[in-house]
Amino acid sequence: MNERDPGALKSLIAGFFDRAAPTYDGVAGSYFSILGPRLVDRIELREGATIVDVACGKGATLIPCAERAGTEGTVLGVDVSFEMVRSARAHARKRGLSNVVVAVMDGERLALRKACADAVVCGFSLHFFPNPLEAAAEFARVLSPGGTIALSEWGATDDRWAWEDELVGSLLVKSVSSGSFDNHEALEGFLESAEVTDIEKGTESVTVHLADEDEWWTWKWSYSFRYMLEQLDADARDRFQADALEHVRTMRRADGIAITLHALMAVGRKSR
Ligand SMILES: C[S@@+](CC[C@H](N)C(=O)[O-])C[C@H]1O[C@@H](n2cnc3c(N)ncnc32)[C@H](O)[C@@H]1O
Repeated sequence: MNERDPGALKSLIAGFFDRAAPTYDGVAGSYFSILGPRLVDRIELREGATIVDVACGKGATLIPCAERAGTEGTVLGVDVSFEMVRSARAHARKRGLSNVVVAVMDGERLALRKACADAVVCGFSLHFFPNPLEAAAEFARVLSPGGTIALSEWGATDDRWAWEDELVGSLLVKSVSSGSFDNHEALEGFLESAEVTDIEKGTESVTVHLADEDEWWTWKWSYSFRYMLEQLDADARDRFQADALEHVRTMRRADGIAITLHALMAVGRKSR
């Protein structure tokens, strides 16, 4: 559990996601945009549905939800990062989606009325909530009877990259994660706290290809890993970069660097 003040932690998260937004999901094959539709495919969505996408980022799940809900539906994306919200809004506009509304809002305090949503979606973000139980209570409150909650989180990393955790562990930097959701049991526990049953679980994998070490380094700045890097002074960061790139180089093949990412997914339904 992260011991920092929840409000301060959320501001900090909003800040580094604001700075990551220009490159977020733009390197390493845009894998969030590959996995987002795979989560949405697990929800039974009817045309005209109202969907809330909590911590929507740039819209990896928001956009497929909007496409599925049709022009009669409404999809509300919320995120603490203003730049993510701006980007998701621009993304929806570019796709010609008129059923999307995006707002800066805390996922643990949804400014929404009770039972307004047919589905609540949350992709790769539960571990950022300082009080996951508050988030679960909010998801339960806004979900209508018979509605669905769909979650994704990162599973265990490819063993070949274990050196990365060891290297980061030696840096003495703070982690931004408040909790660990890297197993199906934790996702199931969250869904039970959100008062849904009939839980279905699954795993999706995606292999991303990076051209070289430089692209690997650019990628590390494009998501929450950025927070670790921002805590290092210039010398420590140079040392970390040199050490990490030495490892990355050994993993490079003729066609670049391949990394397989495993996403855990879980979906549950609220009784009618
Ligand atoms: C890894 S990204 C995932 C974004 C998106 N769901 C996707 O699949 O690409 C995590 C997102 O969670 C947002 N976030 C973190 N804490 C939040 C909170 N308390 N309320 C709302 N959004 C939050 C961040 O700003 C960031 O956009």
